Amino acid sequence: MGTEKTITLRINGCDETAEVPPHRTLLEALRGLGHVDVKCGCEKGDCGACAVLVDGEAVDSCLTLARSAEGREITTLQGLGTPEAPHPLQQSFAELGAAQCGYCTPGMIIASESLLRKNPAPSDDELRIALSGNLCRCTGYVKIFEAVQAAAAVMRQTGETI
Ligand code: FES
Ligand code: FES
Repeated sequence: MGTEKTITLRINGCDETAEVPPHRTLLEALRGLGHVDVKCGCEKGDCGACAVLVDGEAVDSCLTLARSAEGREITTLQGLGTPEAPHPLQQSFAELGAAQCGYCTPGMIIASESLLRKNPAPSDDELRIALSGNLCRCTGYVKIFEAVQAAAAVMRQTGETI
């Protein structure tokens, strides 16, 4: 259709192009480009599974138009760390058993990273509020909160940022 437009998205430090109509969400565009670490849950802003960082802030990519993300830094879970060099949040989620089915995990870690960039030493209440837009049907949340606080402690010691 004539309304398609080629856009360039900067994803995890690399430029990628996509043909998108005006209504294409960032979630659809990212997954269409193969970034399936960005999970598709409710597609209406309720679950947080689709969260990515846009210029360092966690956003629900299902509520963000792809075209609006052009020229901005997009970071998905895979942009935070690798299996060989995991981000402290990735490490602690794995070590402390904070993932069961794992579907919510990318969004949980992205939302946590967004919080820790602004607030490196959140209280438990601040953490719960920050993750209140991220739903998990498996873990009961306790392990997730423990993992984020453990990672925050490591990051405070090492001064780690991406
Ligand atoms: S898929 Fe975006 S908030 Fe649920
Ligand atoms: S680990 Fe299954 S939804 Fe959170």
